[in-house]
Amino acid sequence: MRDDGPRLPTSPGFWRSPLRGTWFTSVLGLVLLVGVTVLFVTGLVSYAAYNPDLAPVNDQTPDKGLLGFYLFSWPTNPPWLYRLTQGLHVTLGITLIPVLLAKLWSVVPKLFALPPARSLAHALERISLLLLVGGGLFEFTTGVLNIQLDYVFPGSFYPLHFYGAWVFFAAFLAHAALKTPKALRAVRERRRGEDGQASPGPDEGGPASPRPDAPTVDRRGALWFVGGASLLLFLTTAGQSIGGALRRTALLAPHGWADPGGGPNGFQINKTAAYAGVGTKQTAAETWRLVVTAPGGRTVRLTRAELLRLPQHSAALPIACVEGWSTADQWWRGVRLRDLAALVGYDGDPPDVLVESLQLHGAFRRAALRADQVADPRSLLALRVNGEDLSPDHGYPARVIVPAAPGVLNTKWVARMTFGEL
Ligand code: HEM
Repeated sequence: MRDDGPRLPTSPGFWRSPLRGTWFTSVLGLVLLVGVTVLFVTGLVSYAAYNPDLAPVNDQTPDKGLLGFYLFSWPTNPPWLYRLTQGLHVTLGITLIPVLLAKLWSVVPKLFALPPARSLAHALERISLLLLVGGGLFEFTTGVLNIQLDYVFPGSFYPLHFYGAWVFFAAFLAHAALKTPKALRAVRERRRGEDGQASPGPDEGGPASPRPDAPTVDRRGALWFVGGASLLLFLTTAGQSIGGALRRTALLAPHGWADPGGGPNGFQINKTAAYAGVGTKQTAAETWRLVVTAPGGRTVRLTRAELLRLPQHSAALPIACVEGWSTADQWWRGVRLRDLAALVGYDGDPPDVLVESLQLHGAFRRAALRADQVADPRSLLALRVNGEDLSPDHGYPARVIVPAAPGVLNTKWVARMTFGEL
């Protein structure tokens, strides 16, 4: 009768896969060392791009305290900046999922090892591993749910994902500090082994099984498999950010392959006018007026026809959504934001502005823009796009478009603009 050996996962002999081992885990760990660091930095950048310290309306994580130490005034150049950073954040996040799962699989035996703590240092390391594994799974899960428009989290995505990121990355840094030297040594030794210069020693303290089953694939083959899965996820996600003909390959992205229709307004949208509760009654020429005001100062009410009679300017700018998808540059035409500021008395450098929308539903019915964003000559209250009036779903009668700003700050169906100290 075949001896199946230990039955409890607490015993190393319970884990029979011949693939586990320090080298296998180290290669995955080193890939995550670079990948997760880029994810954390691009994530922090995503939060900074909201200019959350400009006004409470832009800040979905107001209680962040010291965790906002790094915030800076988000630039308007290069105009594709947020398209790049957020496209990278989401695409890399998806692409790394097979690596993260393979890494967790490769060390599972260690999570069950007894005793749970051999010393205080070992106990602290194990607690950091729980924060690492828990934080990592939490970050990747909330991220994926968010871009799949599946808002099933226990609360708002922003603070959950933001605080989760700090917990995960702090545990990740501790783990990397402890393990990177060993991981580099393991990779170097293997390479020397392959060059026949020295054979790697036994997997002392590593996750290798003491009684492995017969191999069906070797560790290198298994890594190719993980790499192949990552490549597949990359190829079915990146198209939503790169755009053009590749957009149709973004099979996993809700906004990626959906056909936006042809013509000048035929490019991706996030929220439709119907979803936002904006109807023709509110946008009709008889009823709609843009209110431009400055606290304690002048107020002007403009019809769309009057806006079209003001000096018109054009700018080629993309829409870059926080969910990672983006459009190619579109030709927007309308009134410069700084010219609207001048209408209410700001002839010199324009101030910050609070923009309010007609929309009834959805986040960011109000958004604030910093003075440098208002001053940028490409920052427009767009009335037309690609030579045609904006469609209702792209924000007719008028929408804001600012270079390098996250999509949510380019307010659609604009009703009111308040220039001045926010
Ligand atoms: C599959 C993996 C991931 C996906 C799909 C993802 C997706 C996203 C999305 C869509 C946002 C923007 C949210 C918004 O502004 O509406 C975001 C923000 C962010 N992500 Fe991720 N993320 C992933 C993994 C991670 C990981 C592993 C970290 C940390 C190491 C991280 C850190 C952040 C941070 C700090 C923010 C800013 C949050 C904020 O604006 O309040 N993300 N992520």
